[in-house]
Amino acid sequence: MCGIVGAIAEKNIVPVLLDGLFSLEYRGYDSAGLVITSNGLQRLRTAGRVAELEKKVAEQKTNGFAGIAHTRWATHGEPSERNAHPHLSSRESKIAVVHNGIIENHEIMRKRLQNEGFQFDSDTDTEVIAHLIAFNLRKSDSLLKAVSQSISELQGAYAIAVIEESHPERIVVARNGAPLLLGLGEDGNYAASDASALLKTTRNMVYLEDGDIAELYKDHYAVYECKNGILGPEINRPVHQSDLTSDAIDLGPYDHFMQKEIFEQPGAVANTLEMVLNAQAISPGLFGSAAEKIFSQTKGLLILACGTSYHAGLVARYWLETIAGLPCTVEIASEYRYRNPIADAHTLVVGISQSGETADTLAAMSYAKTLGHLHNLAICNVAESALIRQTDLRFLTRAGPEIGVASTKAFTTQLASLLLLTTVLAKMRNKLPPEKEASVIAALRHLPAALQSTLQIEPEVQEWSQRFSEKRHALFLGRGVHYPIAMEGALKLKEISYIHAEAYASGELKHGPLALVDKEMPVVAIAPNDQLLSKLKSNLQEVHARGGELYVFADADTQIEESDQIHVIRLAEHAGILSPILHTIPLQLLAYHVALVKGTDVDKPRNLAKAVTVE
Ligand code: M6R
Repeated sequence: MCGIVGAIAEKNIVPVLLDGLFSLEYRGYDSAGLVITSNGLQRLRTAGRVAELEKKVAEQKTNGFAGIAHTRWATHGEPSERNAHPHLSSRESKIAVVHNGIIENHEIMRKRLQNEGFQFDSDTDTEVIAHLIAFNLRKSDSLLKAVSQSISELQGAYAIAVIEESHPERIVVARNGAPLLLGLGEDGNYAASDASALLKTTRNMVYLEDGDIAELYKDHYAVYECKNGILGPEINRPVHQSDLTSDAIDLGPYDHFMQKEIFEQPGAVANTLEMVLNAQAISPGLFGSAAEKIFSQTKGLLILACGTSYHAGLVARYWLETIAGLPCTVEIASEYRYRNPIADAHTLVVGISQSGETADTLAAMSYAKTLGHLHNLAICNVAESALIRQTDLRFLTRAGPEIGVASTKAFTTQLASLLLLTTVLAKMRNKLPPEKEASVIAALRHLPAALQSTLQIEPEVQEWSQRFSEKRHALFLGRGVHYPIAMEGALKLKEISYIHAEAYASGELKHGPLALVDKEMPVVAIAPNDQLLSKLKSNLQEVHARGGELYVFADADTQIEESDQIHVIRLAEHAGILSPILHTIPLQLLAYHVALVKGTDVDKPRNLAKAVTVE
């Protein structure tokens, strides 16, 4: 959470900083700020969005050749101008710092620095970094060494950028547990939390590793390893050509990123499945060169994830058990990491994450390793993410950048990937005869088209949105593999429309939640034409008999009668194994349209951020 940009060039870098912050706003958007070296350190900060900062920059005609900037998701200290980054230390050498992450020993460091006479102007952990660097600068002959010394005294995960008033010709950046990359331009050098922030300026990126510290000048840069405060030798990190296009992060004809990302799903799934769509068979190599060996020893799966990615894991459990005959446990990462679970060496640990940066998922994956799980696999949308780097096997969902805080295309591409994983494991366990494998491949091949036709129901869903927007609560019901889809629908609705929504396995209704049902509580039901339909229908009757109003998403061939209190939207086709993927679409559309009616900030819902990099 929080986005960082740094720039040093032969031109005015303020537009680069602002563009970068706009791209990084998905990481946090409660306050923003920048420091420019121009006749000393000029700092501008605002509570609220980057657009507010942009106004201030325009009013003050701020410009300069070097600067650092930040968009914040508050952890320590309320969102306010006073707590917005950059933070300064002005006692001796004047320096400015922007920071993404959390400094865990900030309280103790704050006391120590206060005893040394440093005065704190904010409630943030970041200000500790600024004063600590200033303190260490007294004993060092360079900012680089002072930063190296300081980070050895800090505990936690962070990425920082630092600039010094008396040496405006350089920026120092460091990374430990939070993403940071360098962008190498023709007229200058840059740093940012992710590549999207720099795409308009350069495509040449250097991904820093944990423990790296780098110095940027307008015409050169150097990366060093830093261990225990000792600055190591200069190291060579490869330069990558980013293949992201700026289209991928532009809104194009859409009003919101969430809308764009919902409608991108056919293409996102097609990209994710590209290697499979032309194949006659699915091979373990899709998950990495060691996959065949590891999968042949796999006796079960443990899936670790958060939020929407956790829901994808819950769907996969049904597939893995039913199709591959493998036991599967799915755990919320933040819970797993603090339990004492019994590990089995040959239970493959699967981390699912759009960002690959979610702190709880990363920690849970590492914890599983320490408990004795031998192998792990990442299903992730970000190639250079921490999750991808720390796992033995990996499958990259190729959804393209997901900017809207509410996850949409990441979810459906995760599901497509998990179905592939299931298919590979089933095949290796002789649970999938060739004709069945061929039918799964055929279904996957058809998936982009099926998603496209499912999106056509948007106008019907939109018609329901006004009625939902007037409600304060909603219940989502599903059974079997569609129960996690109900959970995902409820999460989408609450996240962006702020309507309280709960999901229940519909068989659970009479064990409690039925007491809530009245005409003020819309009940959304996912009703595919599967073997649980008759059970689900009985559950829906229980709702109907108590005056509840039902909103049913059914398959084309689901027999459900409509009435005043039972509204039905039918999906274009009956999708069989892919049904959970298709049934996700109307729920995303419902949440989106209800949020539009309510006038909430669809892409940046209150209190949330896209990548949850703190615990
Ligand atoms: O990047 P990740 O997939 O690890 O993120 C996990 C959750 O934070 C994320 O899915 C969150 O629940 C979304 N905002 C839901 O729309």
